Amino acid sequence: MAEIERIVILTGAGISAESGIDTFRSAGGLWEQHRVEDVATPEGFARDPDLVLGFYDMRREALAKVQPNAAHHALARLEQEFAGELLLVTQNVDDLHERGGSRDVLHMHGELKSALCLSCEMRSPWDATMSDRPPCPVCQAPSLRPDVVWFGEMPYQMERIYAAIRQADLFVSIGTSGAVYPAAGFVRDALDCGAQTLELNLERSEGSHWFRHSRQGKAGDLVPDWVDEVLSAGG
Ligand code: OAD
Repeated sequence: MAEIERIVILTGAGISAESGIDTFRSAGGLWEQHRVEDVATPEGFARDPDLVLGFYDMRREALAKVQPNAAHHALARLEQEFAGELLLVTQNVDDLHERGGSRDVLHMHGELKSALCLSCEMRSPWDATMSDRPPCPVCQAPSLRPDVVWFGEMPYQMERIYAAIRQADLFVSIGTSGAVYPAAGFVRDALDCGAQTLELNLERSEGSHWFRHSRQGKAGDLVPDWVDEVLSAGG
């Protein structure tokens, strides 16, 4: 730990589970309640925009009822106190990292609280509903869609992520099943570049065998402990 100077952290739905946000692939999770093809693909949106806009309106509204948990707060503390470089990449579209105090969060799958205009292609902060077809704040066209990355679309800022992984001494994956690429492949990229790799997850994930170290438990317990270890090692 003492030699760690550059850390890349990847988070997934599991870090927000203790805040009360459903994960995707657990029993009763979002992908059991809704078909991915219907609500998380460009084709589904073209077929039934009302269904898709309503699905993301519901998820955006649900954010008002949840709070960041100990894992989000611990990563914010790491950002503030770690002397080296840290990149926090999340697959989550919620805003709990920011509300937990993290200032620099890379949302590779977009954000519920952002709108993307299909007319002018601008992204705007968004806190309201979209199913009532409000005008784009930039061009006024009623052409907003959720600014989330759907299956078949390119995640955001991949070059910045790969550049950070190439430099990293440590890659840490928290609360993600390792089922969705390209994020699921980051651990192998990190290994290829000689980084240490650590998984913190409720259970062994699909890609668990790629990690040199794997700890099982709740993010709200594991993450604060791990952050304490990094900071007490002088990081
Ligand atoms: P998943 O639902 O696939 O996986 C969540 C992981 O978190 C599972 O491995 C759980 O065991 C673990 N978990 C659950 N509760 C936990 C807790 N309290 N502490 C720690 N771990 C816990 O969610 P993601 O891996 O984030 O993409 O899913 C990746 C992507 O698939 C999402 O970003 C989304 C989805 O389809 C798009 O929509 C593009």
